[in-house]
Amino acid sequence: MTNNQRAVPVTGTPREWTVRHGDRDDFAEAVRVVGSALLADDSPDIMLERMRPLHDAEGYERFLLAVDDREGGDQVVGSTNHFPFEMTLPGGPVPVAGVTGVGVWPTHRRQGVLASLMRRQLTEIHDAGVRYAALWASEGAIYGRFGYGPAATETSMTVRRPHTVLRADAPRDPHLRIVLSEPETVRADLARVHREEAAGRLGQFQRSQAWWDRQLADGPRQRGDKGPLMAVVVRDADGPRGYALYRTKGVWGEHGAQGEVHVREFTATTPTARVALLEHLFGRDLTATVEFVFLPTDTPIPHLVVDPQRLVTTPHTSLWIRLVDVPGALRERTYAVPFSTVVEVTDRHAPWNAGRWHVKADTDGARVEATEAAPDLSLDVSHLGAAHLGQVPLTGYLNAGLITEHTPGTVASLDTALHRVDAPLSGVVF
Ligand SMILES: CC(C)(COP(=O)(O)OP(=O)(O)OC[C@H]1O[C@@H](n2cnc3c(N)ncnc32)[C@H](O)[C@@H]1OP(=O)(O)O)[C@@H](O)C(=O)NCCC(=O)NCCS
Repeated sequence: MTNNQRAVPVTGTPREWTVRHGDRDDFAEAVRVVGSALLADDSPDIMLERMRPLHDAEGYERFLLAVDDREGGDQVVGSTNHFPFEMTLPGGPVPVAGVTGVGVWPTHRRQGVLASLMRRQLTEIHDAGVRYAALWASEGAIYGRFGYGPAATETSMTVRRPHTVLRADAPRDPHLRIVLSEPETVRADLARVHREEAAGRLGQFQRSQAWWDRQLADGPRQRGDKGPLMAVVVRDADGPRGYALYRTKGVWGEHGAQGEVHVREFTATTPTARVALLEHLFGRDLTATVEFVFLPTDTPIPHLVVDPQRLVTTPHTSLWIRLVDVPGALRERTYAVPFSTVVEVTDRHAPWNAGRWHVKADTDGARVEATEAAPDLSLDVSHLGAAHLGQVPLTGYLNAGLITEHTPGTVASLDTALHRVDAPLSGVVF
């Protein structure tokens, strides 16, 4: 056991456990715990086989376990981990802890195991100089108390024929080339388009080879009742300009072919590439429905179809954001307009953030200093996390009575400054 693996005893009622770092050998046990907690269909062995390559590539040094070691035992009863992402946030690409693998063994739930893991993880992320954590939550009730706020909404969308008709004035470029192939054969093109998109799109992280392996995995579990994963790439003379990853499903009924197109990823870097991709997806013979799973809420697709009212969109929460270092995060963010205010922050699990901060912001960053001055606004760190991507106004929390405005107008001016016209998209559940 190395120094940083020293166990920290935590006393619960009536259980006892310790929190320690895990290593590669512990990973199978953690997978068993998380699989059971999340009601996984697959056996732990199959899950392990699926998850191993990505975790081998990312390493196990951030992996934390809660271990019930009464009577000399070593039963893993809880786990958390995080990926070291480079994620695009307001202000540009920055290191972000992508929290993953959270689960508690069912006999040990509601005794404080998660709380002890979260506190330790937060401290370690902070000590590593990382200013943000992000996660996808299985339930919205879990992570607010740990300072995470629901910061991003993305949307799924279903389009049924005949509403797949694109407008006559949708921009088209007859010189674009459309190539449909197995994803592995165009992997370099996909990576090139995604790299460009991820550098500018809030919520996206740069993908390593291991992440591409995971995105392009095409086993029975990924396929379900659909066909193999296909990649359609749009190119111009300078290279790839967009791609979609999708599967089809043949459906035959009384009305003839009613096939389905299921789009897993849809990325275009130019308007004409977007239209070319849509023409391909909407034009597949024998299909009646095209379904997109992850789209940003500002997707231009509704503007490109003849009848935008017939698109069925379903918004869903994606990223929860945690400001691990409040002054650091507010310093490096960009703002739509300048402002100056004193915010009073409460933070139950990261006491270094709690207190009053004078934020004097310009469009390209802010000066943030501790102050004793009277606050204009009092709020929890989770509200700052929710507002950080510029999609969730603080005004909602004010109207709900969850934050306190001491100086009228502070929340409105802060919302104007934090607002982003571009919507976030994570698109990958990690
Ligand atoms: C969610 C889960 C990790 C919580 O672990 P836990 O050890 O039971 O949580 P704790 O006992 O540390 O609870 C800490 C606090 O969160 C609350 N809490 C925990 N899970 C909650 C849930 N699912 N819904 C509402 N509140 C929850 C507890 O009541 C407690 O509240 P308190 O601080 O007011 O006392 C665990 O129940 C689990 O493994 N669930 C299934 C898997 C899952 O959802 N994993 C998360 C994947 S994103």
